[in-house]
Amino acid sequence: MDNGYLTDFARPAGTLPPRAVLSTDAPVLRLDGSWRFRLSPAIAQAPEGFWRPEFDDSAWTNLDVPSSWPMHGHGKPAYTNRVYPFPIDPPYVPTENPTGDHRLRFTVPESWAGARAVLRFDGVDSCGRVWLNGTELGVTQGSRLPAEFDVSGVLRPGANVLAVRVHQWSAGSYLEDQDMWWLPGIFRSVSLAQRPAGGLDDVFVHADYDHVTGGGALRVDAPPGAVFSAPALGLHEVAADQTHHLAAVRPWSPEDPALYTVEVATAAETGSLRVGFRTVAIVDGLLTVNGRRIEFHGVNRHEFHPDLGRVVPQEVVRAELELMKRHHINAIRTSHYPPAPGVLDLCDELGFWVIDECDLETHGFLSTGWRGNPSDDPRWRDAYLDRMSRMVERDKNHPSVIMWSLGNESHTGANLAAMASWARSRDDSRPIHYEGDRACEYVDVYSRMYASHAECAAIGRASGPPFILCEYAHAMGNGPGGLAEYQQIFETYPRCQGGFIWEWIDHGIRSGDQFAYGGDFGEPVHDGNFVIDGLVFPDRTPSPAMAELAAVYAPVRIGFGAGRITVANRYTYRDLSHVTLTWTLSTPDAEPASGRAAAPPVAPGESGQISLPDFPDVSGEAWLTVVAADPDGLVLGAGQAAVGAAPRAAGASRLPGRRRADGHLLLGPAVFEPVYGRLVRLGDLALDGPRLHVWRAPTDNDRLGFHGELMRDWREAGLHRLQERLDGIEADDEGLTVLSRYAPAGTDLALRTTVRWHAGEDGLSAEVRVVPEGAWTVTLPRIGVRLALPGSLSEVEWFGRGPGEAYPDSRAAVLVGRYRSTVDELQTPYVYPQENGHRADVRLLELRGGGGLRVTGAPTFGFTARRCTDEDLDMAVRRTEIPERDRIHLNLDLAQRGLGSASCGPGVLPRYEVPVREYSFGFTLSAL
Ligand code: GAL
Repeated sequence: MDNGYLTDFARPAGTLPPRAVLSTDAPVLRLDGSWRFRLSPAIAQAPEGFWRPEFDDSAWTNLDVPSSWPMHGHGKPAYTNRVYPFPIDPPYVPTENPTGDHRLRFTVPESWAGARAVLRFDGVDSCGRVWLNGTELGVTQGSRLPAEFDVSGVLRPGANVLAVRVHQWSAGSYLEDQDMWWLPGIFRSVSLAQRPAGGLDDVFVHADYDHVTGGGALRVDAPPGAVFSAPALGLHEVAADQTHHLAAVRPWSPEDPALYTVEVATAAETGSLRVGFRTVAIVDGLLTVNGRRIEFHGVNRHEFHPDLGRVVPQEVVRAELELMKRHHINAIRTSHYPPAPGVLDLCDELGFWVIDECDLETHGFLSTGWRGNPSDDPRWRDAYLDRMSRMVERDKNHPSVIMWSLGNESHTGANLAAMASWARSRDDSRPIHYEGDRACEYVDVYSRMYASHAECAAIGRASGPPFILCEYAHAMGNGPGGLAEYQQIFETYPRCQGGFIWEWIDHGIRSGDQFAYGGDFGEPVHDGNFVIDGLVFPDRTPSPAMAELAAVYAPVRIGFGAGRITVANRYTYRDLSHVTLTWTLSTPDAEPASGRAAAPPVAPGESGQISLPDFPDVSGEAWLTVVAADPDGLVLGAGQAAVGAAPRAAGASRLPGRRRADGHLLLGPAVFEPVYGRLVRLGDLALDGPRLHVWRAPTDNDRLGFHGELMRDWREAGLHRLQERLDGIEADDEGLTVLSRYAPAGTDLALRTTVRWHAGEDGLSAEVRVVPEGAWTVTLPRIGVRLALPGSLSEVEWFGRGPGEAYPDSRAAVLVGRYRSTVDELQTPYVYPQENGHRADVRLLELRGGGGLRVTGAPTFGFTARRCTDEDLDMAVRRTEIPERDRIHLNLDLAQRGLGSASCGPGVLPRYEVPVREYSFGFTLSAL
């Protein structure tokens, strides 16, 4: 058999011209379900003649279609980011080319006799050769794009046999080097549709909105003679090919995704569409929709499921898009291929701006210095144009799609320019995006990925086409930090029209009770956990970054000043009539007052003020919190102001320290051991500490810096292995003093530490002073102390920021209040173990369980508490490797480094670093 199609520069064969997805009254047969399947390691080992109807497949196995076959025990998933997992020798592919033969017997009703019909594949990865009843129909290429074959005359009433041979590798694989798992299979639906003569093979709806008059214009390109009806618009069987002007329509936007049902009909077929009116335009250098500048609060969405691979059931998609909406995400870039068709239906319905991206990435050619890159090689031109036309034709009727993207990371070249010009000629209503065309020679927006804050601001100050960040704020592991600072830039410079966080989901494959990443399937080349870089965990549970982005993207912003509350409306189109404000006064012990107020009438982009509510005087610390919510209780924004006195420092009465006969030192209820001078008992409580602590289990952003090897420098400086030396311990009439020197072996660097202990009514207080010695060249992960506590103290309560974790550059979501949790619940289950769970600006912390410990700050501190040490967490590369120790390890931090997003992008802004310098801080401990 001739396998030449595998190397034919990714050109499909025998497929029909592309057209829109359309639901009509013509009969459709879904062929999804259980198929027969056999996997062969190479084509030469695949069974001969398997396409013949009479072929005996009884020895084969069953496999569901749609599916990614490696997710079902056939072969293995493999992860690479950029590197091709095969030699670069286009258009050739390896001999070792996993080949999945699929067969389906199905029955066609008598009523289909003689009907014209098409067979449709919504997605086959990477290439499929198709036979029906022994007749070869052709070859699909372009994994994430539909392919249709005419089966008229081949399909017959009664029994039919469909055979599809799918290859993991084909020439198309060179065009599909996206950063994701390689997962072959028929991973989207397969269906058969009757195509009545004179039916609606294709329609193209044009629904424009005139923001000046509030009117709409509706036209449908359809076969000659077609009519359409839109009862809600008062249109009944009007000529499709004429523009119908409507005096008033409700425009479509993510804030109000108003859809109208439009029925298009010919004598032979009636189709139904949901239409949204909107007009996209670039006006004076700004991207506008319906006359207003828009701002993307977006995410990059890959199609991924931890058990099913590239198959994402529609109910899962709906739930995830609803989750996005609840977090004020208003835009999706379909990185880096068109999604399953049903995703865009939901985007229309729920309301998202969509950048629909073509199935194209040749990033692996970076390794050859882009030599041989298909983007500029005429032999690949047909494939580029084929892919673009299949996306545009399929998705052209979606109001949510407001830009076409040519693809991702394919450098530049004539084939990309050709895609853009074809798309413009076919659809002049949508601008073109492609990040690789930095000079904007053939695209309409200037798009970048991972530009730093400073560079974005500089772009904002310069003039040019609208600027967007198609990727920013790399959400790998604990992070991203710096989101609020990007948002500030979008709000300062009109040209900076927002961006898309990289990325929505961690692509971890479920494996027992944890998630696998690159290398876990024995791949010889892979990129480790770089595929675990989402805002939600693989099972779609939100990571803490979701709370952060919800606060940063919040449509209502609450501020305080001059005795008033400021309410800013950050919507593009909506007023605040649906918003209610709730205020609460809280102190460390109680919530003495609360109330409600209506939001002031504020137009989009404007702000208004209301007076502060009347609340009782409180002594000591108190906070006024104002929360804006919609009628369903969804939080649309929140703000907080301190309205009482600052927290009080520890009390003044002092007890003398003394030395016991065994050398231990005593101070009030406290006992200190004589070797390191550590506190070992406080009343009935056994503890061990405090010890100076500067280490944290590196985050992915600490580990994988694009800009300098932060973690390597930390390890070279020995921050993870400070040795502790006791230089003196003295008791006097007012307490104890412990002098220590913490220093890494093999260096003359040190942190000299003095702890002055006092015991009084308020408990045992420590004043810590840290003085560096030597020529330090690194900044610190953190500065603070750590203590080991009995493992029973697992109930945690604090007054400080919460409820979630917070770091200096990721703290928009946390408000000061009283929170409860447990040590176990304080941990965030990042797939790759790393620093997590830090609670910030804490004034009061209590750990209880068979006794208890209270810590108060002077004035505040951050804390983490876990059943392992930071060194344990540092060593683990999988969650199951994190040990559970007998004791709870409590860190009290004066400062911790921010998160940044250096795993792919800029690091921590300088103001969120922890320099080596003198530090003084204090805290008070009491046994409960
Ligand atoms: C970008 C790329 C994405 C992803 C990201 C890193 O360069 O477009 O697909 O690889 O980096 O996670």
